[in-house]
Amino acid sequence: MARILAIESSCDETAVAISEEGKLLSSIVATQISVHEKYGGVMPEIASRLHSENITVCLEQALEEAHLTMNDIDAIAVTRGPGLIGCLHVGLQAAKTLAMLYDLPLIPVHHLAGHIYANEYVGELKFPLLCLVVSGGNTELVFMKGHMDFEIIGETQDDAVGECFDKVARVLGLPYPGGLPIDLHAKNGSHTYDLPKPHAEGYDFSYSGLKTAVINLAHTLKMKGEPLRIDDMARSFEDVAIGQCVEKTMKAAKDYKVAQIVLAGGVSANSYLREQMKKQVEGTGIELIIPPLWCTTDNAAMIARVGEHLYKRHYFAPLSLGVDPSWQIDDQLTLLAK
Ligand code: KG4
Repeated sequence: MARILAIESSCDETAVAISEEGKLLSSIVATQISVHEKYGGVMPEIASRLHSENITVCLEQALEEAHLTMNDIDAIAVTRGPGLIGCLHVGLQAAKTLAMLYDLPLIPVHHLAGHIYANEYVGELKFPLLCLVVSGGNTELVFMKGHMDFEIIGETQDDAVGECFDKVARVLGLPYPGGLPIDLHAKNGSHTYDLPKPHAEGYDFSYSGLKTAVINLAHTLKMKGEPLRIDDMARSFEDVAIGQCVEKTMKAAKDYKVAQIVLAGGVSANSYLREQMKKQVEGTGIELIIPPLWCTTDNAAMIARVGEHLYKRHYFAPLSLGVDPSWQIDDQLTLLAK
């Protein structure tokens, strides 16, 4: 039986969690959103500094909540990438220090593998599986034949869908991060604005054309002195943006004959995406797992889940391990084989 202490610091949440055989013993998240909000996006230098300030407090709280000391821990799992380089360094240095001090194995975890495995807090993963990974920095379709076996079969050719939500929200005068405000406004709107459907090949995605179309439309309306109906624009935008995710996911799921579809990342909190995916899988025989809302934002509980799988494989890194801000998910298992 292994107890894993996991650390996550890839963006604007400092998080520490402890798990034991799939059971979460503690999970602490210190979010920096209120600090970055006023800049309309994450300021990397400020984020790294706040991680440095928060990490030891989170660590102490995680141990306290689990009623454990470091002597009860069997391994340290840590997000090695992708993410903001300075932020990743804080988490990795903390993890390495603990690993060295307490002579514990160090397990490098891919941030998006964490988001995918967060679904294990809801149900068992069944293969072959397709995951739609949608966040502020990523829009990917990941195919998995088995545990820890990741193949990217489609990805965005330009902007990530979450980034697009955030930019469109800014144009509409909504606060950062813009995903939730757009989601809420869209509930009261009608699809009355004509926005172009993105054209990306195969299972790939594209969001920059849609973003530009909203910006141009808002500009034209302003020039004409006509009001921009926020609810209607949010509805029209969400239909196209989420429509692309749903359409590509369902096509890939059928082509790859998957047993299960899972959603992952910040945008998987979107209520329209959740509703549409549920509708689309009906009668197909494909099982759908939707992560709980607390797992759609960054946390260390999801890193602990991956840590447990990798612990069983003795997937331990040397203390010379470095971060990789653009680490690819399909390199999760091959990293230490090189
Ligand atoms: O995975 P995540 O927490 O971190 C990054 O990749 O940075 O994702 C954050 C993204 C933001 O772009 C945010 O606007 C978006 O997830 N998001 C949403 C919703 N809630 C958060 N997008 C659409 N609908 C939502 N309800």
